[in-house]
Amino acid sequence: MQAIIIKEIVRLYISCVNLNLTEEGSSPIEQKKHREVDRMKAEDVKTIAMIGAGDMGHGIAACFLLGGYRVYLRDIEQRFIDRGVAGIKASFDRFKEKGKISAEAYDAALANLKTTVDLAEAVKEADFVIEAVPENLELKKSVFADLDKLSPPHAILASNTSNISISSIAEATKRPEKVIGYHFFNPAVIMKLVEVIKGQKTSDESIQVAYDLAKKINKVPVIVKKDSPGFIYNRVNEPTLVLLSKILEAGHPTPEEFDAAMKPFMPMAPFELLDFVGIDIAVHGLEYFAKVLSPDYKPSEAIMAYLKAGNLGKKTGKGFYDWSQGRPQIDTSKATKEFDLNHLIALQVNEATKLLEEGVCDDPKEIDLAMANGGGSPFGPFTLAKSIGYPTLVAKLEEIYAKFPLEIFKPTETMKKGNIQV
Ligand SMILES: NC(=O)c1ccc[n+]([C@@H]2O[C@H](COP(=O)([O-])OP(=O)(O)OC[C@H]3O[C@@H](n4cnc5c(N)ncnc54)[C@H](O)[C@@H]3O)[C@@H](O)[C@H]2O)c1
Repeated sequence: MQAIIIKEIVRLYISCVNLNLTEEGSSPIEQKKHREVDRMKAEDVKTIAMIGAGDMGHGIAACFLLGGYRVYLRDIEQRFIDRGVAGIKASFDRFKEKGKISAEAYDAALANLKTTVDLAEAVKEADFVIEAVPENLELKKSVFADLDKLSPPHAILASNTSNISISSIAEATKRPEKVIGYHFFNPAVIMKLVEVIKGQKTSDESIQVAYDLAKKINKVPVIVKKDSPGFIYNRVNEPTLVLLSKILEAGHPTPEEFDAAMKPFMPMAPFELLDFVGIDIAVHGLEYFAKVLSPDYKPSEAIMAYLKAGNLGKKTGKGFYDWSQGRPQIDTSKATKEFDLNHLIALQVNEATKLLEEGVCDDPKEIDLAMANGGGSPFGPFTLAKSIGYPTLVAKLEEIYAKFPLEIFKPTETMKKGNIQV
């Protein structure tokens, strides 16, 4: 009898153990939680926390508000939040004027916006957190360490960094599998491209959620498979900046002569665009690439001289052009014969082939999609290369290399083979 009772107790005990514990020792409830976390879907994302209310932060917040999401907008001081909210309202006003959103949608979107300077409050209900604080690794790391501590365990933590390594930012957290790059373009409410960047430890699930989420707010997401400087868009464009910096150093053609040759094909010619964006921003980009990718990117003394003189472009009223009376008028009759549009296309295509060779992206169509949606051109580099012909572009690269013998200007093997299908 006693033996039967003991046997029954053991059986009951074993069944209890089977009910509540798994081989890993966690309860089924905990396991379910983990599975749910693993299988998180874009549909599960209801609340966004936007960290930083500056140019990008408020723009990204506006995108999610228009998509019907609840958004907590956080900055370090109320005045920055107020400026961000004013920016959001200004965008919504423009959309309303153009009939793109109704008065009801306007009110509904604004009602979904919560603001706070308290980080804990901003993230406590967040399913997806996006950081857009200034471009500084140490600052981003300290923000991510706090986000990791304060955000719900299931929340994905995304950075809008333009260049900084996602894997380095993720090191500041205990959830590197949930840290991604989420690179919007300026102005975020208008530009379609979002680069979804995989850090070394980012899980496929996190990438999928971020990708689907971007689609839900009508963006064009492109997955960047390898955490690499400049990701896709900025990387492909950077050699053009090196060329401009070298042309300044050579002293010819002048910025206006160069721009005059390009102006008929683009809304803003390259030097004009540099002035518009800010010569300081361009130099900062070149210095970063020189540090992490190749010394070839080092800004020339000639471009540094503009920086030293405080002539940063539109924002200071003077750069390569005088902006004090508004946008410069470029005289296309002054066009140089030294360079043409195909030189610029060749630089882009060549750099894009490096992304394929390095495994940053494995589909040329995705690179084209990114390039066509991150800037002004309707076509990506590979589509252009197909119509121009690779031998023509290789010849253009050789011409550039003959003038400025830098490794980054040399045509790649993929470029020379010229058989990329798009
Ligand atoms: N401006 C662009 O064209 C552009 C385009 C793509 C990506 N980015 C990237 O987006 C990020 C933000 O750029 P931006 O142009 O919006 O900068 P910004 O200077 O306009 O805004 C940054 C905001 O972050 C706030 N901030 C600083 N520390 C903070 C903290 N600890 N918590 C919360 N907020 C904090 C600042 O007060 C400021 O309002 C950068 O990483 C930048 O490289 C910028």
